[in-house]
Amino acid sequence: MRQRRSRAVYPGSFDPITNGHLDIIERGLKVFDEVIIAILSNPEKRPLFSVDERVAIIRETYRRNPRVKVDTFSGLLVDYAVKVKATVIVRGLRAISDFEFEFQMALMNRRLNPRIETVFMMPAESYSYISSRMVKEVFELGAPIDALVPKAALKRLREKKAHR
Ligand code: PNS
Repeated sequence: MRQRRSRAVYPGSFDPITNGHLDIIERGLKVFDEVIIAILSNPEKRPLFSVDERVAIIRETYRRNPRVKVDTFSGLLVDYAVKVKATVIVRGLRAISDFEFEFQMALMNRRLNPRIETVFMMPAESYSYISSRMVKEVFELGAPIDALVPKAALKRLREKKAHR
């Protein structure tokens, strides 16, 4: 009998993806057969990278891993999860400060669709302080961020800076 493959959605802004996100994806792959990185398409957030650029960075990062997919979504996350036949939402919890918002979001998503479970994963301690926002800020101010983001993100960040 063929077993159904388990599929999780890992949603976020990923502007850009960091090594902290990669850590969560690695952990997700230990539990689920497939992880779909779902980038929220929300122009109101005024991102540094366009959705297409963010997709390209992540595709490049995971080009050798067929168990990781990249996609974009707009509208409700739970509706997107149903559309792609995922039963789980993965979110990373770095610190207690993340908890309140994540808890609210998980309960709202459960209310919207009780069949979709949210699973929280903790990154390695060494990534607990990394956020896309802070990476962008320190890079802009000249600090090295080679150890904080994947190569494809670093390359795009450098290109953006050079073209300004
Ligand atoms: O990386 P982020 O910005 O913390 O990710 C937030 C995200 C994309 C997971 C969240 O904003 C989201 O799911 N938005 C889609 C709209 C939605 O479903 N809202 C209801 C749950 S709060």
